[in-house]
Amino acid sequence: MPDWYESGLQHIWLPYTQMKTTAPPLLVSHTKGARLVLADGRELIDGIASWWTACHGYNHPHIRAAIASQVELMPHVMFAGLVHKPALTLAERLADMLPGDLSRVFFTDSGSVAVEVALKMATQYWLNQGQRGRTSFLAFAGGYHGDTTGAMAVSDPEEGMHALFKGLLPEHHVIDLPRDAKSTKAFDAFLAKHAKELAGIIVEPLVQGAGGMLFHEPDVLKHLRAAADKYDLLLIFDEIFTGFGRTGTMFACEAAGVVPDIITLSKALTGGTMALAATVVTPKVFDAFWSNKAEHALMHGPTFMANPLACAAANASLDLFAVEPRLKQVEDISKLLEDGLAPCRNLPGVVDVRVKGAIGVVELKNIADLGVLKQKFIDADVWVRPFGRIVYLTPALNIPEGDLKILTDAVVAVLKT
Ligand SMILES: Cc1ncc(COP(=O)(O)O)c(C=O)c1O
Repeated sequence: MPDWYESGLQHIWLPYTQMKTTAPPLLVSHTKGARLVLADGRELIDGIASWWTACHGYNHPHIRAAIASQVELMPHVMFAGLVHKPALTLAERLADMLPGDLSRVFFTDSGSVAVEVALKMATQYWLNQGQRGRTSFLAFAGGYHGDTTGAMAVSDPEEGMHALFKGLLPEHHVIDLPRDAKSTKAFDAFLAKHAKELAGIIVEPLVQGAGGMLFHEPDVLKHLRAAADKYDLLLIFDEIFTGFGRTGTMFACEAAGVVPDIITLSKALTGGTMALAATVVTPKVFDAFWSNKAEHALMHGPTFMANPLACAAANASLDLFAVEPRLKQVEDISKLLEDGLAPCRNLPGVVDVRVKGAIGVVELKNIADLGVLKQKFIDADVWVRPFGRIVYLTPALNIPEGDLKILTDAVVAVLKT
């Protein structure tokens, strides 16, 4: 390893990592397609596409070209009092492609901040209309919405990674998703009692990702929409994981035919190349801020919001969705994941194998040593990062079939040992 690897590591703090006991991180020299190339020349097939952002694989020439030409023109400019073509074009394209009347876009620079903005918008929506006291949210067991304090507070306090911070966080309500008769009854009863305290309901539609890759049916979202309408609550869909084809439709909410009042997007928005997020709302929400009173404005503005390079990358990513058959590829991946992971069902310790869109999950009774399991995948030349009791694959949506087969074979082989 080069000197700068050892000396630089003395100054780096890695995420979700016990720095004292962790294995040394792998040094990546570059990426190509669905592969990571390590400094020692080894290639790992990437099963998770950098936290499922790299939906077109790495280094797609169309996105690289868009970033390269934008960097010549204007890498960044502040977005207050000034606007630019990449952001305006992207906002209009998102409004066109999102379902229903989701049409007003607020850009930020990470998923967690997009969620913070959604929560702030929903809270101020009521305040601007003179309604005080509607400051809490209904969120769901198994949910995860990010690592900043507001986002942590609407994530599952037990399942998520945030149990330690209980005293710091504002208290919201976390109950079970209404997915069967019992939980639906409890959900309805909860709202009958508490709806007046709530600003809104927040959920990851169809797939709760970091909380354990838990799936639910589209009907659950229909129930949430009906309940939000009945009790006059804002419905927030966090599509930071599910957006841009991952679950089989461009946005997960399309599978339910349900339109939220607020949607959050990030991750695959730029095809996995640049930090960018968006919180998009309907006119109903935006109109509550449209006023002659300065204090009715949304007081939020990250320095790097709507970064032109990131917006150019996102526009290029949307071009690719338009000209390349991504949703058909998701359908094909889905079948290959079903077939490829099926042998896991018979392995000892496996409690469930499930697939939705381009997400394949093997749930285990428990994982005794995550570090050992991670190393076994590296030894098999694949990049798969189990967490909790879950081994999952969320590959690039255009991963070659042969690479996907190597990934699913590796999951079966490693879990057999
Ligand atoms: C559903 C969901 N919301 C929010 C976030 C937070 O996004 P970021 O890590 O960009 O802050 C994530 C990240 O995994 C996510 O999956």
